Amino acid sequence: MPRTLVTSALPYANGPVHFGHIAGAYLPADIYVRFRRLQGDEVLYICGTDEHGAPIQINAEREQVSPQAYTDRWHAVMKEAFEKLDIAFDNFSRTSLPLHHTWTRRFFTRLHDNGFILSKTEDQLYCQTCQRGLPDRYVVGICPKCEFDKARGDECPSCGYNLDASELREPHCKTCGAAASCKPSQHWYIDLPKLKPQLEAWLDTKRSYWKSNVLGEVDKFLAGLRPRAITRDLKWGVPFPLPEGADKVFYVWFDAPIGYLSSTVEWAEKQGTPEAWKDWWAEDVKLVHFIGKDNISFHCVIWPAVLLGQNAGFPLPDNVPANEFYNLEGRKFSTSEGWFLDIAEFMKKFPPDTLRWTLARGAPETRDTQFTWKEFQIRVNSELLGNIGNLASRVLKFVKARFAGTIPARTELVESERDALAETSRLYQEIAKAYERFSPKAAAELLLKLGAVGNKLIEKEKPFVVYKTDPARAGTTINVALTMLEQLAVALSPIIPNTAAHIFKQLGLSGTPAEHGWQAGQTPADPGGRAIGKPKHLFQRIEDAVVAKEVAALQAAAAAKTRESEGPETEAIAEAIPFEHFMATDLRVARIESAEIVPKADKLLKLTLEVGNMQRTVVSGIRTFYSPEEIVGQTVLYLANLKPRKLRGIVSEGMVLMADGPDGRPVFLQPRSEVTTGTRLR
Ligand code: 2FM
Ligand code: ZN
Repeated sequence: MPRTLVTSALPYANGPVHFGHIAGAYLPADIYVRFRRLQGDEVLYICGTDEHGAPIQINAEREQVSPQAYTDRWHAVMKEAFEKLDIAFDNFSRTSLPLHHTWTRRFFTRLHDNGFILSKTEDQLYCQTCQRGLPDRYVVGICPKCEFDKARGDECPSCGYNLDASELREPHCKTCGAAASCKPSQHWYIDLPKLKPQLEAWLDTKRSYWKSNVLGEVDKFLAGLRPRAITRDLKWGVPFPLPEGADKVFYVWFDAPIGYLSSTVEWAEKQGTPEAWKDWWAEDVKLVHFIGKDNISFHCVIWPAVLLGQNAGFPLPDNVPANEFYNLEGRKFSTSEGWFLDIAEFMKKFPPDTLRWTLARGAPETRDTQFTWKEFQIRVNSELLGNIGNLASRVLKFVKARFAGTIPARTELVESERDALAETSRLYQEIAKAYERFSPKAAAELLLKLGAVGNKLIEKEKPFVVYKTDPARAGTTINVALTMLEQLAVALSPIIPNTAAHIFKQLGLSGTPAEHGWQAGQTPADPGGRAIGKPKHLFQRIEDAVVAKEVAALQAAAAAKTRESEGPETEAIAEAIPFEHFMATDLRVARIESAEIVPKADKLLKLTLEVGNMQRTVVSGIRTFYSPEEIVGQTVLYLANLKPRKLRGIVSEGMVLMADGPDGRPVFLQPRSEVTTGTRLR
C-alpha cells in the first residue's frame, strides 16, 4: 500500500467545534487512520485551524481584540476539544503562521507563472466608515424581489432569492449601518475554464469509486465553471504579493487547502526532518480529504485545479469521502441559537468513547442524521454495556471466580463453538471492508453482530451451569468466548480506542490493540493458560433522569438565547456609585394637577405637580406624545431636588421620571396601590 495522507477540513477558528463537525469530518478520518495503521500502512493525519476570512475579522472587531488574539483563543479551544475526543492528528497547525503565508504566495506565484491567473477591475460595495470593501454577507439592503429590508448581499432570508450584492436597493454596511458606496477594485481570479480539460480527465478516473453525492455536486459545479476570484479587500488574511494589489489579501478559500501542505511542512520541521514533507506530497501518495458536504466543490474541483496548475508533482485527491449533515434533536446545530452541546462539558460527564461510538453509529454517511439524548442512552446502555460490556464482564468475572484468574484450556470444540468462531472470523473480514470503504457506521453495526455471536454462544452453551458438572467443557466455551473478545477488541479499536485498550488489559494481553495489529486479530492464538487482568466495568449505565435533565438543559439554553436575540439590546448598567450619592437624590411620588402648552415650544408641556401639601412646576418634553388633557390626574415619580433651570422663561423645578415604551413613547411609572403624594422613595 502506498503512503496515505489523510486530512480533515480545517475548521474555522471562529467558535467551538460541535458534534456535527466531529461526526462529518473528524471522527470518520480518525477512525480510518487508526484502521490503516492497524493494518501496518504508513499514514499521516494532518489538520489545523482555518484562521482567515471576513467573519473572523469582523467578530474580532466586535470583541475589540485583534484577529490574531481572537484566533489564538479559538485555536486553543479547538485543539483541546479534539484531544479530549482522542482525534489523533499528527499535526494540528494554523493558517496564520508565516510558514503558511509563504506557501500560499508560492502557490499563487506558480499559478501566475503557469498562466492560470486573470485579473479584472469591477465596481464593489464599499463602506467609507469602516474603510473596507463589503463582502456579500456584510452588506444588507432591500430585496429587489420581495422588498424585505434586511436582505443580505448573497441571499434574501425572507423570500430565499439568491441575489448578487449589486442588486440590493439601499445597500448598507451590516457592521456600522453606514450607506455603502461603489468603488472600483481590481481582483485576481483563477482561470478554472482553462484548467477544465485537465480537471475533467482526472475526474473521469474517479467516477467508478467516488461517493455519488460527491460526484453529483462536482458535476453541478463543473457545468457552471467560471473564473473564481481569489483576492478580497480585507486587512486580515494572507497578504497578496503583487504590488498592484498590495492592499488585498487572498480569499480564505484560496489559502485554506494549502494549509494541508503547510501543516505537513510544519510537522516535518517539528520532527527535525524538514525535508520529510516531500515524501507525503509526492505523486504516488494516496491523498484522502475528509469533509462535510458544504465543502465538496472546493475540495473536488477548485483545490485540484490549484494543484494541477502548480505542475509541481503534487498528488491529487484520491478520494474525498464527504459526509452529509449531522443535526441535534431535530434541528441544525447552531451556536448562536444555543442549540449545541459543548464538547468540553460533555466530556466532563461522559467518557469520549461513548460519544465516538454514538457518532459512528449514526454517522451521516449517505443522508443527514442527528444526535438525540435518547439515542445516546440506547447506544450506551444496550450496545456498549448490553452487548460489548456484557460479554467482557460475564466471561472475565467467571474466569476470576472459577479459574483463579487463568484462562482455561481449550479442549475439543462442539459444533456451536466451531460455527461461532467461523462466523466471527467472517465478520472480522467484513469489518475491515467497511473501514476501507469509509463506513464506520457499517463497521459499528458489524461489531455489534460480532459481540452478539459471543453472547449467544454463552447463552447456548451455558458454561456457568455446565461448570458444576463438567468444568473442562465449560472452560472450553469460556476460552472460545475470550478469543472472540480479543478479536472484538482489535476490530473496535479504531472507533473506541480506550475501551479496546481496557479490554486488552483485562484479557491479560500485553500492549495495545494498535500494537497488536489487524492480522493478529484475524486468528487470535489460543488464550488458554494466560492470566487475565482485573475485570472492571467498561461502561456506566445512563439513567432516564440524566437524559431528561440534559434535554431540559438544551431547551433552556436555546430559550435563553431566543429571549436574548428577540428583546432589544439592554443598555449597559452605569458605573457604580456610593450609597450616599443615591441618598442625595430626593425622589417623590407626585400627581399632575394641571398641564399647559408652552407657547412656541412644540415639544414642551408645563406641569403643575401636587407633592403632598407643596406645589411644584416642571417643564417636561412630552408634548409630542401626550396632550395636556390626557395626563392631568396621573400619579408620577418626581425627582425633586434637581437644580432648577429656566426653559422658555419658565423655571423648571425638577423632573418627572419616565421609561421609554417599546414604541419609543415615554411611559409614566406608577405605584400599584395608592401612595400619598409627597412620599419619598428610598
Ligand atoms: O467550512 C469550513 O469550516 C472551512 N474552514 C473548511 C476549510 S477546509 C480546507 F480547505 F482547509
Ligand atoms: Zn461600515
